[in-house]
Amino acid sequence: MYNKIPGTKDILPDEVSWWQNIEQLSRSVFSIFNFKEIRPPIIEDISLFNRTLGEFTEIVQKQMFVIHNQEDTYALRPEGTASVVRAYLENNLDKKNGFMKLFYIGPMFRLERPQKGRLRQFHHVGCEAIGSFSSEIDVEMIALAEALLKSYGISGYKIILNSLGCLKDKARLVDILSKELKDKITELCEECNNRYGKNVLRILDCKNESCRKVVKKLELGEKHLCEHCLRHFKEVRSGLDTLKIPYEVSAHLVRGLDYYTRTVFEITHPSLGAQDALGAGGRYDNLVSELGGPDMGAMGFAFGMERLFIADEGKAKAQDEKLVYFVYLGPEAKKTAFKLMSESRAQGIKADANFENRSLKSAMRRANDINAALVIIIGEDELKKGTVTLKNMGDGKQEEIALDSCIQEIKSRL
Ligand code: HAM
Repeated sequence: MYNKIPGTKDILPDEVSWWQNIEQLSRSVFSIFNFKEIRPPIIEDISLFNRTLGEFTEIVQKQMFVIHNQEDTYALRPEGTASVVRAYLENNLDKKNGFMKLFYIGPMFRLERPQKGRLRQFHHVGCEAIGSFSSEIDVEMIALAEALLKSYGISGYKIILNSLGCLKDKARLVDILSKELKDKITELCEECNNRYGKNVLRILDCKNESCRKVVKKLELGEKHLCEHCLRHFKEVRSGLDTLKIPYEVSAHLVRGLDYYTRTVFEITHPSLGAQDALGAGGRYDNLVSELGGPDMGAMGFAFGMERLFIADEGKAKAQDEKLVYFVYLGPEAKKTAFKLMSESRAQGIKADANFENRSLKSAMRRANDINAALVIIIGEDELKKGTVTLKNMGDGKQEEIALDSCIQEIKSRL
């Protein structure tokens, strides 16, 4: 017998209705916000991710699923933003459409150490607004994230906000942090010692207790921000205040991907434990030009669907359509059952039958097990009279109805 790879999951039929429901709710909220779906491939040239996510990020350093293919090296996508921007530019959407609001739903792959809420194949509901530097877009995207969570029925989350500033500001932040941490290096974990020279910002979200103690004492504030970025950040907060979207500002919020500039945000939920981000995102005003496109601002975010599942406890299941189950007893009855079943299906009614020639008792048990709403029992004697029996599985009531009006009777009772 084979087992699945650690950090992957079989989504079994019982759970699939939760996934379908979340996907459907997401699609309808995206549509209300006038977003269009995009479906880029799940494999890309590895250099796309190396270039955009940052050479020293954990994803690029150790989490990429790599495929060597003769001269080329591909990677299973660890996230969606780089692919969406690549597709936007490669298909000239910048020239045809200019500003675009795009969403995607699908699997992502990261070679992580699996734990609660952290998988190697997980799923994103994500979106990107490409082609604007305007602070209203930041507000719009955070409002969209909140609208999505509301549509899923998830509450108790917290929106945490920060601004990294433009590239110059980010460099300033790195400088400030390097200076502040210089004489505290010995108090940091081994990993953060490595990060110090290469990716100092990540020290801010290290989960190690001793690193957290050091980081807590740092007073970062907004001193790294230039005048423009400071104004942009104020506008974002004032827009969120206008929409009465609650948020918390944390100067310690940085992101694990290098492309972010200015606004970054994370949405946390207490049900998640150590991996507490339900979703996250931010601005990436240099990524489009970095990939050979024009100078265009952009902003996006993604929710991790497995984490939404934990926060929602898998409750948001779609209502299953009601099922009619045909039970036939004898060869003539079988023919009639199949005709009725096919007619029901043609009219959009979910229908099934006891294909295995069971006894009436075991067929009824099966109807009960598969949650049939109605059972139509067709016996040879009744058939001669032109009738069938309809049993309502909800209240257990049974009645004889005319064969000719069977479909109408089913419809009126579902
Ligand atoms: P990210 O923070 O790496 O951002 O991922 C977004 C969300 O995906 C996380 O908040 C988390 O809920 C979920 N997630 C990440 N890794 C895993 C994992 N190994 N297992 C389960 N869930 C996971 C991005 O990927 C950005 N592309 C988001 C974005 C879009 N920024 C701008 N546009």
